[in-house]
Amino acid sequence: MQTNKNQYILPDHRAEGKRNLNEPAEQKRFTLPAEYQSLGSGKTCCIRTYGCQANVRDGETIAGILQAMGFTVISEMEAADLLIFNTCAVRRAAEEHVLGEVGSLKTLKQKHPKKLIAICGCMAQEESVVEDLLKHYPQVDLIFGTHNLDQLPKLLANVINQHQRTVEVCSQEGSIIEGMPKERSRKYKAFVNIMYGCDKFCTYCIVPYTRGKQRSRYLDEIIAEVEEFKAAGGKEVQLLGQNVNAYGKDQGMEDGFTVLLKAVAETGIERIRFYTSNPRDYSFSTIEAMRDYPNIMKALHLPVQSGSNEVLRRMNRGYTREQFLKLVDDMKAVIPDITFTTDLIVGFPGETEAQFEETLSLVDYCRFDSAFAFVYSPREGTPAAAMEDDTPLAVKKQRLQRLNEKITQYARMNNEVYADQTVKVLCDGPSKNNPVVLCGYTESNKLVNFTSDTASEGDIVDVKITQVKSYTLDGKAI
Ligand code: SAH
Ligand code: SF4
Ligand code: F3S
Repeated sequence: MQTNKNQYILPDHRAEGKRNLNEPAEQKRFTLPAEYQSLGSGKTCCIRTYGCQANVRDGETIAGILQAMGFTVISEMEAADLLIFNTCAVRRAAEEHVLGEVGSLKTLKQKHPKKLIAICGCMAQEESVVEDLLKHYPQVDLIFGTHNLDQLPKLLANVINQHQRTVEVCSQEGSIIEGMPKERSRKYKAFVNIMYGCDKFCTYCIVPYTRGKQRSRYLDEIIAEVEEFKAAGGKEVQLLGQNVNAYGKDQGMEDGFTVLLKAVAETGIERIRFYTSNPRDYSFSTIEAMRDYPNIMKALHLPVQSGSNEVLRRMNRGYTREQFLKLVDDMKAVIPDITFTTDLIVGFPGETEAQFEETLSLVDYCRFDSAFAFVYSPREGTPAAAMEDDTPLAVKKQRLQRLNEKITQYARMNNEVYADQTVKVLCDGPSKNNPVVLCGYTESNKLVNFTSDTASEGDIVDVKITQVKSYTLDGKAI
């Protein structure tokens, strides 16, 4: 494949960090020109997606676009004509995993030069990663960013027709493109984007650089998507944004998230969840809406990151330990059966043993149902990456282990209350490890493996819990 360096549009970290907050994002509609509609006829593609729900949702759009171009989506990597890696950049380990997989495809590409390999998602928005890919991974034919999914047909045509390695990564802001095709991974549960990007700039986080400025979709577009999904038999929507509680702020909406949440609840869809809530933008009206609408699930993912005020300040999280705990207490007072999960970072630069212990004591207070805890991973170009960090990795790993022991202890304790109870489970179909056992989630978002003679995917089933484990429940449909 030819390379022509001048035609590459590469990511620019500085530009990614700039914001023009005066103008709302441009809104466009997707069209697929006729010349691209059969470009994939007779060809297969395989998409590997990593990272958060937003990326999974992007993967569904990529699958939709490729199908509209005539490709058949398959799950076997080695057999596909086009391999797409839809990547995550949140921690170095996630990146290394992808680089390892792409690295191992070198011989496959040498044997079958016509196979095409593409990288997209958040890693494609990182300057240093793209440089590395261009230099050391000649097997990669196409790199495109998170802001130009709609350009995929044109970019692929360039690779296929011109035999040219193609790199196009926009670094600025991004628009909102409505009407892109989508191939949902599930029939009864839908990810629905309510906003893109993030303007919070927590000092450890790469997302504001890889995903651009916060931009909210119009309320009408979101409601139309929920209505359409419900009309097709959909049961659960998961509203997605990096910071859903700030929904509508970029459009000048007052109390936008509560307005949206109520409008989604009024559609009558059976279950509503939302990810992710940032504690600093919570309004009391949102808590009241959660109380008032039975179809808004009372299981909240509320990332706290640390229990130490000093660490929270250096993370630029915008709230204190006391404010977080008050929010949790206020919610419990209004919605007594609410449950919480969270995200935690261990070993942020300069975190002392005493500051880490404040995270442990916060976990003791909140007794989360579960928590994702990770050792801090420096992300090039973020402010925290330049902070002094004198804690050895071994000490950080020990802290993580201590924290995870505590998290598991509370997860188990919270699950005990379900013993012999009957819960409503939205069936996802056969479980991962045993095809004769079904699985699904309770309203409180607990994974249940259960047996039933009649239930199938999409049913909401009453299940009696027969065995409690730390992170799952076993049961029997009644
Ligand atoms: N928008 C969400 C989080 C998105 S990133 C929020 O504000 O809560 C998902 C999680 O990855 C974060 O909650 C954080 O715990 C973790 N994370 C982000 N950057 C990280 C880093 N550099 N090192 C370790 N964990 C990180
Ligand atoms: Fe990252 Fe903070 Fe934005 Fe979440 S709110 S995506 S942690 S910058
Ligand atoms: Fe990862 Fe990008 Fe999501 S960095 S967590 S895929 S926004």
